Amino acid sequence: MPLEEIEVGDPFIFRNDTLWPYFERLRKEDPVHYSVHPEFGPYWSVTKYNDIMAVDTNHQVFSSEPSITIADPKDDFTLPMFIAMDQPKHDVQRKTISPIVSGPNLAALEPIIRERAGKILDELPVGETFDWVDKVSIELTTMTLATLFDFPWEDRRKLTRWSDVATANPNSGIVESEEQRRAELYECVDYFMRLWNERVNAEPRGDLISMLAHGESTRNMDRMEYLGNLILLIVGGNDTTRNTITGSVLALNQNPDQYDKLRANHDLIPSMVSETIRWQTPLAHMRRNAKADIELGGKQIKKGDKVVMWYVSGNRDEEVIDNPNAFIIDRPNVRRHLSFGFGIHRCVGNRLAELQLKIIWEEIFRRFPKIEVMGEPRRVLSAFVKGYESLPVRLVA
Ligand code: HEM
Repeated sequence: MPLEEIEVGDPFIFRNDTLWPYFERLRKEDPVHYSVHPEFGPYWSVTKYNDIMAVDTNHQVFSSEPSITIADPKDDFTLPMFIAMDQPKHDVQRKTISPIVSGPNLAALEPIIRERAGKILDELPVGETFDWVDKVSIELTTMTLATLFDFPWEDRRKLTRWSDVATANPNSGIVESEEQRRAELYECVDYFMRLWNERVNAEPRGDLISMLAHGESTRNMDRMEYLGNLILLIVGGNDTTRNTITGSVLALNQNPDQYDKLRANHDLIPSMVSETIRWQTPLAHMRRNAKADIELGGKQIKKGDKVVMWYVSGNRDEEVIDNPNAFIIDRPNVRRHLSFGFGIHRCVGNRLAELQLKIIWEEIFRRFPKIEVMGEPRRVLSAFVKGYESLPVRLVA
């Protein structure tokens, strides 16, 4: 295939898991690669670890506005959210919600998450094949998210639905049309508006909605900005961790020697979690917009160009990570990966994600010696959310 025909923004290579040779070739032959996406137009693909770092840590030149995915926002449906904002507004909004993931708050959340993880696992059928994504990954992360929002418990699966709808590809079958997608997102903001109204008139509390309703930089947001930030928190807190939980089961099954090593030494769980986050790379890319002409990897980027950082490729860069395609749960420098990004937008929830993964595996080992993968996973149709729709498994008692 001629280099200029390589188009890594194609969601089907993610669904079919055929992305790897394309990225390997780009890293070797054209690390900063120009291509034209059939729908979203021209953009640069940055595929090597150090070039990605150079972009991610240079927010003066590489702006997060107007969008952090290859797709441009639709003119008649823009959702402002702080991940897609530059300084100074980004910083103050981020600061408003960051106490939710502070050390003391995580310490308070730990026993709650552990109790729920235990309940979820205790209700699973032993010896039968079932879908791990639905019964465990979604369940645990949705419960955590409902807690962060102090969201009505019985309605919590609405959060899962809104998370899927927000990132749905038009061909994914999740929604029938763009109209349906918007209608469901409006339902989301109407629902959350009721919660806002209750909390804005009450004393400030420790949940995300109360934080937004009382925060100086967020209390005057209009409806679309409220929706945008909600989507950020719902997708950020849900899809990514969900797909890592599923990824950990898959990776350990594909690498039985690593599963044995973990079974023999549970102290390796935190390290396995980090290795899975690298190996999975739950968000395949983040995009920036060049605010000035700049050279990158020998290529001349022009002001206004779209630049896509492929974390999924940087995490397999053989010049920075030894044997990067292997899943090695006790590799040295295991937290050295790009999955949480770098710079001013680095994932605010990274410790919470790791905590949920650690707890679920500790609780799994208290109950089951082995989770067996029984068939192929179904992967999400997206070049952004890199994850699973389903994974058939069976528990060994
Ligand atoms: C394994 C799980 C997760 C992964 C891989 C992940 C990945 C990311 C990435 C790549 C970014 C952008 C980084 C950049 O542009 O440099 C980000 C930002 C963000 N994440 Fe996560 N995330 C995860 C879990 C979570 C959780 C549990 C939350 C919930 C609190 C969360 C909330 C956010 C928010 C609010 C931002 C925006 C930060 C900003 O713009 O300043 N994430 N995440």
